[in-house]
Amino acid sequence: MQANTFGKAFSISTFGESHGPAVGVVIDGCPPLVHIDESFIQKELDRRKPGQSAITTQRSEDDQVEILSGVFEGKSTGQPICMMIKNKDARSKDYGNLQHSYRPSHADFVYQAKYGIRDYRGGGRASARETAARVAAGAVAKLILKQQSIDIIAFVKQVGTLELPPDEVDYSEIEKNIVRCPNASMATKFIEAIDNARRERDSLGGTISCHINNCPVGLGEPVFDKLDADLAKAMLSIPAVKGFEIGSGFAATKMKGSTHNDEFVAKEKGIGTRTNNSGGVQGGISNGEQIYFNVAFKPVATIAQNQQTVDDQGNSIELQVKGRHDPCVVPRAVPIVEAMAALVVCDHLLRHNVYTRLASGS
Ligand SMILES: Cc1cc2nc3c(=O)[nH]c(=O)nc-3n(C[C@H](O)[C@H](O)[C@H](O)COP(=O)(O)O)c2cc1C
Repeated sequence: MQANTFGKAFSISTFGESHGPAVGVVIDGCPPLVHIDESFIQKELDRRKPGQSAITTQRSEDDQVEILSGVFEGKSTGQPICMMIKNKDARSKDYGNLQHSYRPSHADFVYQAKYGIRDYRGGGRASARETAARVAAGAVAKLILKQQSIDIIAFVKQVGTLELPPDEVDYSEIEKNIVRCPNASMATKFIEAIDNARRERDSLGGTISCHINNCPVGLGEPVFDKLDADLAKAMLSIPAVKGFEIGSGFAATKMKGSTHNDEFVAKEKGIGTRTNNSGGVQGGISNGEQIYFNVAFKPVATIAQNQQTVDDQGNSIELQVKGRHDPCVVPRAVPIVEAMAALVVCDHLLRHNVYTRLASGS
């Protein structure tokens, strides 16, 4: 009944809570002899870690990865890979007043109602701290995808009401600014908006775009395990995500078939399409074009303003939450979106490889 595992051929199970001793992940299904570059895994974790800039939570964690199994002399052995990241800077006393009260729009109420017990310190398992484990696993998936030249790049496209104009995406800019926007002048505006929200003791939402480049034709299954369906589930499993759209997404509802259809054309690498409203997936299966999608994040629930809520006896109370929080999660969520995309694509790549091997009799 529990659901802490994701993926079929390349599966991950995460463990740990925000204010427990550690969070971590067990990967099952990593093929043997993959070069497991620990410094790359650490680099990915550094992109997600708290306290990385003035516009993120000031919780200070070094998020040092420890590989406990499944790797020998720098290579995967084909056995489960367990990775652990210790929690060092939890300040549980900041959450004392949440023991008997519920933050509006957080997971406190539903956890209590469902399990009858909850780790109220820092959100327990509902905390985005758990996503450090996903980023570590996603880095291993990226190492496998890199061998096939499949590349996954995400960036911040929107913060609050400010939106990056289309066609202003320069990948080389993304990691040069603390908000992870692919356009330097827009980055300055995003940072200012987040900083204003922080000073007003409020929070802001935003959108992350993700591009999957060089994905081969054929990944995904035609019915329940469609590539786009699995990407949607992966993205909607990230805390604070409220929406997912692939390709033309909701704009498709306002188009006609004659303008929306992606005409097939002969390309250098084989059959391709002239336009890409499908977002690189047709019938649940990748068609060789770029896969692109958007992920919508809400403004985070925990804000420093007093809010009306109830305690666990149903009495109305005014709640003031202490602790350190992200005024806008999108800058730190970029590596999480990439990691979840990498896990889905890697899972389907391994499944497809088994299928093609069986089909060719090799
Ligand atoms: C990178 C990241 C950081 C987050 N930081 C916070 C935070 O500081 N405060 C908060 O209330 N929620 C934060 N969240 C969101 C909560 O974890 C999430 O809203 C909560 O678990 C309830 O789940 P839901 O919003 O998906 O319904 C963060 C999410 C992400 C992806």
